[in-house]
Amino acid sequence: MVEIICDPPARSKGVECFLQSVRMVDGDELIAQARWQTSSDPAQGVAQLLELWVAPTRRRQGNGRKMMDAVAAQAMEHFRSRKSFLRRLWMAVEQKRQVIGRSFLMQFGFNHVGTVSELLKDEDLLIYMRTFN
Ligand SMILES: CC(C)(COP(=O)(O)OP(=O)(O)OC[C@H]1O[C@@H](n2cnc3c(N)ncnc32)[C@H](O)[C@@H]1OP(=O)(O)O)[C@@H](O)C(=O)NCCC(=O)NCCS
Repeated sequence: MVEIICDPPARSKGVECFLQSVRMVDGDELIAQARWQTSSDPAQGVAQLLELWVAPTRRRQGNGRKMMDAVAAQAMEHFRSRKSFLRRLWMAVEQKRQVIGRSFLMQFGFNHVGTVSELLKDEDLLIYMRTFN
């Protein structure tokens, strides 16, 4: 049975910086995984998507979409539990190596808002951001 496991729960209290792993599994098989984190001040409503990955044999079947929906839902719940709300979700992607990833992000309302040059050896690092109301 396919299920999505979020660890720790979005409402967990404790340290200011929150880091959650979201995994889609079918029994022992890992289908997809994502990790996202927040900045230290919940009032900012800012979350960073660190990674979102789908196993190659499970791509183009809507699993990336389910993972993105799960991450957004978890981040919203996280901020709600801290009397705030999700304003921005952002991610850094590699310009050349993540062309499909960039196209994927744009399907979900992310826009290219910044470029970090001279960090990586042979390509730029691009900042993509999604705004929530
Ligand atoms: C990017 C990634 C997560 C997409 O996962 P996925 O399960 O294939 O995505 P979905 O099937 O849910 O596709 C959602 C939409 O993304 C876009 N998309 C996904 N794969 C695409 C591809 N190969 N080419 C162009 N668009 C693509 C499409 O618009 C698609 O909608 P559609 O199927 O209705 O056309 C997956 O390719 C991956 O793990 N890549 C390596 C990791 C990575 O680059 N992550 C960084 C960005 S999040």
